[in-house]
Amino acid sequence: MSPISRRDLLSSGLALSTSSLLARSAWARTAALFGGALETGSAAALAPRERLLFDFGWKFQVGNGTDPARDLGFGNNQESFAKTGDFKFARVGYDDSKWRSLNLPHDWAVELPFVWDDTLAPHGYKPLGRRYPETSVGWYRREFAIPASDAGRRIALEFDGAFRDVLVFVNGCFIGRNDNGYAPFRFDITDFLVVGQKNCIVARVDATFGDGWFYEGAGLYRHVWLTKTDSVHLAPWESVVRVTLEGQFAAVEMGTRVENHTGEVAPSTVTWEILDPAGKTVATADTHEQPVGPCCDTRFSEDGFIASAHIDHPVFWSVDTPNLYTAIVTVKTGGTVRDAERITFGVRTVRFDADHGFLLNGQPLKIQGTCNHQDHAGVGAAVPDRLQAFRVAVLQGMGCNGIRTSHNMPTPELVEACDRMGMMMMCETRQMSSNPEGMAQLEAMIKRYRNSPSIIIWSIGNEEWRLQGEDAEEGAKIAATMVRRCHELDPTRVVGAAVNGDNEKGVSDALDIVGFNYGLNRPDGYHKEHPARPIYGSETASTISQRGCYQTDSLRNTLSAYDVNHTTWSQLAEEWWTFYATREWEAGGFAWTGFDYRGEPTPYQWPSINSNFGIVDMCGFPKDNFFYYKSWWTKEPVLHLFPHWTWDGRDGEEIPVWVHSNLDEVELFLNGKSQGRQKVTRLSHVEWKVRYEAGAIEARGWKDGKLVLTEKRETTGPIASLRLTADRATLDRGGINADGEDVVVLTVEALDNAGRAIPTASNLVNFKVTGEGALIGVGNGDSNCHESDKEPRRSLYNGLAQAIVQSTKTAGTIVIEASTGGRGSTVAPAKIEIATKRVELRAAV
Ligand code: GAL
Repeated sequence: MSPISRRDLLSSGLALSTSSLLARSAWARTAALFGGALETGSAAALAPRERLLFDFGWKFQVGNGTDPARDLGFGNNQESFAKTGDFKFARVGYDDSKWRSLNLPHDWAVELPFVWDDTLAPHGYKPLGRRYPETSVGWYRREFAIPASDAGRRIALEFDGAFRDVLVFVNGCFIGRNDNGYAPFRFDITDFLVVGQKNCIVARVDATFGDGWFYEGAGLYRHVWLTKTDSVHLAPWESVVRVTLEGQFAAVEMGTRVENHTGEVAPSTVTWEILDPAGKTVATADTHEQPVGPCCDTRFSEDGFIASAHIDHPVFWSVDTPNLYTAIVTVKTGGTVRDAERITFGVRTVRFDADHGFLLNGQPLKIQGTCNHQDHAGVGAAVPDRLQAFRVAVLQGMGCNGIRTSHNMPTPELVEACDRMGMMMMCETRQMSSNPEGMAQLEAMIKRYRNSPSIIIWSIGNEEWRLQGEDAEEGAKIAATMVRRCHELDPTRVVGAAVNGDNEKGVSDALDIVGFNYGLNRPDGYHKEHPARPIYGSETASTISQRGCYQTDSLRNTLSAYDVNHTTWSQLAEEWWTFYATREWEAGGFAWTGFDYRGEPTPYQWPSINSNFGIVDMCGFPKDNFFYYKSWWTKEPVLHLFPHWTWDGRDGEEIPVWVHSNLDEVELFLNGKSQGRQKVTRLSHVEWKVRYEAGAIEARGWKDGKLVLTEKRETTGPIASLRLTADRATLDRGGINADGEDVVVLTVEALDNAGRAIPTASNLVNFKVTGEGALIGVGNGDSNCHESDKEPRRSLYNGLAQAIVQSTKTAGTIVIEASTGGRGSTVAPAKIEIATKRVELRAAV
């Protein structure tokens, strides 16, 4: 691993002076391990920096893409940008009393109805685009106080990402714009603020144009921050920590840059304090004093600071032990602390080997990955932080150890969840181009996340067919420029791309590791021809199935959950994983996809509105293939029997019965009668044909001659009651945080009078939430369902629905009730109480 040089720091500082953000969010340090509640606020801010969450108390109004009269008069004539300070809607006192109040993150696309217009299919039939000006523009407005004590500080407004084409105004002045939907952006607004008074910020967000071919949301769907620093402060995203193993030591190279807005040279020193995962200081380092010239004046400036240290007997970050170290970086002038930040990092080695695949900390480890888009049931792209951890935990439940952030840079909270939960990542940029925008997106991604141990691959793009085909020569040059920049900013990680096509030309030559999308006929030949090049499955599978559905019917847009359907370009779960698992030189692969997502309805279109590629549905409820992967991706004994056994009217018909299992043998029983015992072939499943009769089927699984697991499916009766289950935090389990951010995820099921969950139930369930929480979204995983994600009701889909409830900032109890059938219903309703506990709130505006 190459050490950080002053040159690295200088070259890494060439771009992003106006669009960069601060390094990793400060509150990550307090996040509880392994998917628990995100503890907030308890760590005191590192004085004198303040990083304030700017999510609460916004006003929102839909604008208009073509009619200025319905767009706050914006663009009424060609003089909008003529003078500074004239944007009245962004001045304190403008009447926004009729605007809607809301908190961020917010996605207005998920609130829109579905519209049958085939051009909208990729984005999930939401009315966004040039032909839908009435619903494609949103205005966000917020008045806020800047205390007199802020005089002399630098104040920056930071967006973790927004969709899309954002114009930002402060106190009547235009501040700047950001076009793409995923990269973070930042504006120093110090000059525009009035200290000791109220100020106003407005963001016009225009989702007319898209970035991708999948649902992308609309609005300020990630966090917004206000950061206040001293006029001498650490430069955003410039703190780097690199670790090399030397025997029993970890050699740590550290670097950062300092910005000076004082107008005079500031002789500065930087110190680093390294804390182990228990919070104990294990190393320190500092620099000699260096002059930092006033911003933009580099004549006598040394703004790059470097130092090294070592950690004795470090503990490693791995997928099983996600140990995190922290470096506290502090800049001082004349002994006075001017700024400080915390950088989370891990000690681990990562290697891709042409013969042995992927090695983490020197041990071979297959990448058992999934590609994922960022939206979830009920909330769309505006995913609360806690839900990120929930989603990672769902994937880990089947042994998934890697996430590809297809096809865009992720939100920081997903990366933080992966760091602390032991999930590896292939982090992908959106625009594959060496144009200024493409390079800015790439640089933002790498600078933002290069200290995160979870990231093992940078991906410069996906399936750029032209760059692999008729424009292959240009493709090779574009990729070479991008890869070179990746290496400059981060020489410690490999760079790949998701290539669907001929890896012999185009972008592939420039890559450190060669990605294959689909096409299982290609890697063997390529490996033979290029035995020295590491190879991995950048995108595989695209198996299609629907949860709890056992019939493929193109008239009803249904797909069976047996592992039997894939598209023309893709494979079954069993096919692709058998291929990758049986080749030592394959590093592993990323299945398309872990979660279902909105848009790209495949293979059917309207009324299908969601993808069917997920191994789990939009809510995270497992489809049966989840257990195929669990069988071969974990060491836990697995025995999963399907389908359900409630087939009214199908007496005597043959039903295929499958078992996913990693045991030696499985015996199947129908109403106590053996249907035969079968050996399980590695990486495969077992199946029987059984003539249906009501009662029960049961699978018994044997390992080394011992009965290890049994599983039963019983014929259920009519609905008698509902059941609500919380993912965590029922009254007796500690509760969720009363911080206005934390969520509890609830599952609702229909039970028969013997208390058995009815796998076919489709009842409409009404939700009532009272006390210290609010319903923020509902879903059921049905890719053909057009019910609202926001109304307090949802039909069960094959027996299940989900409700997501968010705490208020007041500690107390949330009461969630679910009922069905209306007044006089004989179905017993369900009720669950969730405690919300007082926590120190994150510092907020
Ligand atoms: C791939 C593409 C993905 C998704 C997938 C569906 O070619 O990279 O974004 O569209 O196909 O199978």
